[in-house]
Amino acid sequence: MARLASVVDPELGLDIVELGMVTDATVDDLGHAIIEIALTTAACPLRGQIEQDATRAALSVEGIESAEISMGQLSREAKAILMDRARQAAQRDAPTTSIPGAARVIGVASGKGGVGKSSVTANLAVALARSGHVVGVLDADIWGFSIPRLLNLEGPVEAKDKKMVPKVKAVGSGEVRVLSMGFLADEDQAIMWRGLILSRAVQQFIEDTDWSGIDYLLIDLPPGTGDIQMSLARLLPRTELLLVTTPALAAQNVAARAGDMARRGSIRISGVIENMSAFVCDHGERYALFGEGGGQRLADSMGVELLAQIPLDPRVAAGGDAGTPVAGGESSVSQSFHDLADRLVASAPDPVEMTGCSARMLDLLDQAVEAGIDSPSA
Ligand SMILES: Nc1ncnc2c1ncn2[C@@H]1O[C@H](COP(=O)(O)OP(=O)(O)OP(=O)(O)O)[C@@H](O)[C@H]1O
Ligand SMILES: [Mg+2]
Repeated sequence: MARLASVVDPELGLDIVELGMVTDATVDDLGHAIIEIALTTAACPLRGQIEQDATRAALSVEGIESAEISMGQLSREAKAILMDRARQAAQRDAPTTSIPGAARVIGVASGKGGVGKSSVTANLAVALARSGHVVGVLDADIWGFSIPRLLNLEGPVEAKDKKMVPKVKAVGSGEVRVLSMGFLADEDQAIMWRGLILSRAVQQFIEDTDWSGIDYLLIDLPPGTGDIQMSLARLLPRTELLLVTTPALAAQNVAARAGDMARRGSIRISGVIENMSAFVCDHGERYALFGEGGGQRLADSMGVELLAQIPLDPRVAAGGDAGTPVAGGESSVSQSFHDLADRLVASAPDPVEMTGCSARMLDLLDQAVEAGIDSPSA
């Protein structure tokens, strides 16, 4: 067992003994070892590697001449315990930040670009602040930042005690506190930044920034499941993701990408927001300009809730261009952002766990793919 503890599940970053994956190990008089390993899912892509490593570890023990590995699958209960251990380890190994322990960290993500992540982030921040919260906004779209314009804020950023101080905007009885690459570099410069520097920038935005006193941290993510999402999973393992989609996008497409993200890091999805939903004109007529059902399809395929349907409304775009988010005023579309904020405040975070191949998420994805969700192509 001590030697088997040298076998690390590459995704979870813990050894298979600590994770409870070794369910039996015996050696007979002839030096033949039989080791039973229970995987998180039978289809775990790391199966071969774990088998190889375990064989090597067993054969390194003096007196063991041959080893036989039999692979099984963890019970639901054992899987839950494993998930718990993996999550605790991720939390333990995460860097320290000034983000209060009680603050909820919410990433706003999407598989595809241009679906309204930044607009949702800005309006949700304003809605939460209007009801008295202090809301941090971290613009993690280092290349394509748009938060400074959406909230009408400008740099430069000041530093205090070697930490960057976010730009503060008073909203209602609360505050929005923002940090964006847009305060540090001009638009042309940011384009020249590349992978490694990008994730370093996000790391500094998280670690070297004064986020003390916030109730929520909203993170506006670039589209897709790239470096930034991966480093976020590592730096802030408590992040929950809100997935933004439009009514027309193919659920399966986005689901597959989110599953990809789950395989490579640990991150949880707490709900879906459908943006650019049916426009309702002053006479009450509905126009589903971008189709219908995408949000619900994605939520269903992920096993999470559809938290909001934000209508397609020119006031969202106009407010964004003017730097005065529509959620700061009174209108039907503003109300839909406030309803979303209320829903988030009321919801105890119970996101779907997404750690490595142990994720319930992946089971759900497998089921979704098997069921062959059909949806219009993106
Ligand atoms: N509900 C809406 N009604 C009308 N226009 C909207 C709505 N949501 C977003 N838009 C407009 O759609 C465009 C894209 O929105 P936004 O920049 O928020 O998307 P994004 O997902 O952040 O894009 P990117 O992937 O480039 O970061 C903007 O011009 C915005 O004003
Ligand atoms: Mg954006």
